[in-house]
Amino acid sequence: MKITVVGAGAVGATCADNIARKELCNELVLLDIKEGVAEGKAMDMMQTATLLGFDTNITGSTNDYAKTAGTDVAVITSGIPRKPGMTREELIGINASIVKSVTENILKHSPNAIIIIVSNPMDTMTYLALKSSGLPKNKIIGMGGILDSSRFKYYLSTAMGCTATDLQAVVIGGHGDTTMIPLARLATYQGTPVSNYLDTEMLKKVVADTMVGGATLTGLLGTSAWYAPGAAVAALVESIVRDEQKLFPCCVYLDGEYGQKDICIGVPVVIGKNGIEKIIDYKLNDEEQAAFNKSAEAVRSMNGALDNL
Ligand code: 2OP
Repeated sequence: MKITVVGAGAVGATCADNIARKELCNELVLLDIKEGVAEGKAMDMMQTATLLGFDTNITGSTNDYAKTAGTDVAVITSGIPRKPGMTREELIGINASIVKSVTENILKHSPNAIIIIVSNPMDTMTYLALKSSGLPKNKIIGMGGILDSSRFKYYLSTAMGCTATDLQAVVIGGHGDTTMIPLARLATYQGTPVSNYLDTEMLKKVVADTMVGGATLTGLLGTSAWYAPGAAVAALVESIVRDEQKLFPCCVYLDGEYGQKDICIGVPVVIGKNGIEKIIDYKLNDEEQAAFNKSAEAVRSMNGALDNL
């Protein structure tokens, strides 16, 4: 099993670190355009192998895609991250050409790779990668909902005073501060609705905090977050390489599901060895469906910006 992570910034390096610690592959390539950075981070991580007890071989490469040949799963984190006060959407102009060319380079050397997109604005970058590569829709997955859901569980657990791993909660829709939809109605604490424990006001606050979860971290850190994004990518990669068939909200191409067509946006999907195995219908109520349609409209209008680049 060979995995490539493109982009050796904080997010890419943390993805690689988590993938190695979990021994999800024997060969892991970290690639970046900045001379020596991927090599340096790969070497640093390799020097943790005996301490952490993993056998994954990590190598770094400065923009040499030949080293990625035979990749089974590629994670694309390239592009610029947002700065405080910026939306993910403002990155489209710079990141679109980067994501397009990285996708082409990966597929040139690994035509069978499954691709995970992390670069922002993620929903539009996933759509761009899918359309420009012509890959089948099961092979391009955008990582956003799994991260946003983890943040949702964090805020719920803080409000409820319980451990986050006892919670089930899902965020669908776009991966944007105003487009994501934390599904409060369906969130549970060991099978019981969280509304048994939190009043409407508190739940509203948890939802609002979740939606700006990434922006809150960007404000604190001066750049976008990396620990939770890295862990979220590794969970996704694990379900693919171990064929776990786990259910995660991911950004995928819709062809009529959830009432939407010709768009990549977050919905619950089963992830396995083929990438996207199937989309699960959560049977949204009218209010949730209306929110989903509004989110899709916003993502679609952002995709329209690709035509003007
Ligand atoms: C985030 O929400 C990087 O978009 C990512 O932190």
